Amino acid sequence: LREHEEFTKVKNIATIELGRYEIETWYFSPFPPEYNDSLRLYFCEFCLNFMKRKEQLQRHMRKCDLKHPPGDEIYRSGTLSMFEVDGKKNKVYGQNLCYLAKLFLDHKTLYYDVDLFLFYVLCECDDRGCHMVGYFSKEKHSEESYNLACILTLPPYQRKGYGKFLIAFSYELSKKEGKVGTPERPLSDLGLLSYRGYWTRVLLDILKKHKSNISIKELSDMTAIKAEDILTTLQTLDLIQYRKGQHAICADPKVLDRHLKAAGRGGLEVDVSKLIWTPYK
Ligand code: ACO
Ligand code: ZN
Repeated sequence: LREHEEFTKVKNIATIELGRYEIETWYFSPFPPEYNDSLRLYFCEFCLNFMKRKEQLQRHMRKCDLKHPPGDEIYRSGTLSMFEVDGKKNKVYGQNLCYLAKLFLDHKTLYYDVDLFLFYVLCECDDRGCHMVGYFSKEKHSEESYNLACILTLPPYQRKGYGKFLIAFSYELSKKEGKVGTPERPLSDLGLLSYRGYWTRVLLDILKKHKSNISIKELSDMTAIKAEDILTTLQTLDLIQYRKGQHAICADPKVLDRHLKAAGRGGLEVDVSKLIWTPYK
């Protein structure tokens, strides 16, 4: 019941200011009650503290000494950087990020228990600092082999390939852990579209090289994509036959080429050589 109430609550904050953007919000987010009478909130783009009045933000910006998310920079390639923020060490930042993210996430229950999560914050950096583009969260320990809990690209940055970058990044972390992973369910429409696109492109690229001489298990080992997700992706592409009680991949090169063309742009690549990271222990 509480969950249902949260879903059906009317949107409170209509717009936010974040860095150089004014952004219209999509959904309700449970900000502390004293913020609920404001239509607009002002966020510090670095520490993500939020305020009701522009003058408060201006005063804050004069004394806030952060120029990037707290935590460790674990990836840098060109102007793109990724920061790993431990929710236990940076509780307020983690909570602020959840409040912000919920404005664009419909059916996710907000985690107040940020201690249990790591946040991977993607930034575009310039001489003024590292500007948040999007993020994903990840449970420190997942029983269900989830490698991603929530993913968001901020609206001004959407449809530029950052979502696929974040998804690819989550699988690179899983590869380093030597585990397969899958996103937490349910997925939003946009989440499902982005994952389908990612899975399709990654699997088709491998199948093109290996023809059909590869099993779902081998694909899973190579990509860290969970076998079930591989099976449903290949079924959607009509590349699976059921023979002698077994699923077999049958990948006619012409069919692969047709699907690859339809799969569209590859997006921003994760350069694994620039990822400096060891799994959480
Ligand atoms: N309309 C149609 N297709 C879309 C759209 C859209 N508005 N947005 C993304 N897609 C599809 C496209 O296929 C796109 O690939 P293409 O541009 O090559 O055609 C693909 O998704 C991914 O596009 P990206 O540019 O890489 O993704 P983006 O940076 O826009 O981020 C994301 C995708 C994170 C899902 C973003 O839409 C978002 O933040 N949405 C709001 C929050 C959300 O729904 N998150 C997922 C919840 S589920 C979960 O957290 C486990
Ligand atoms: Zn600040």
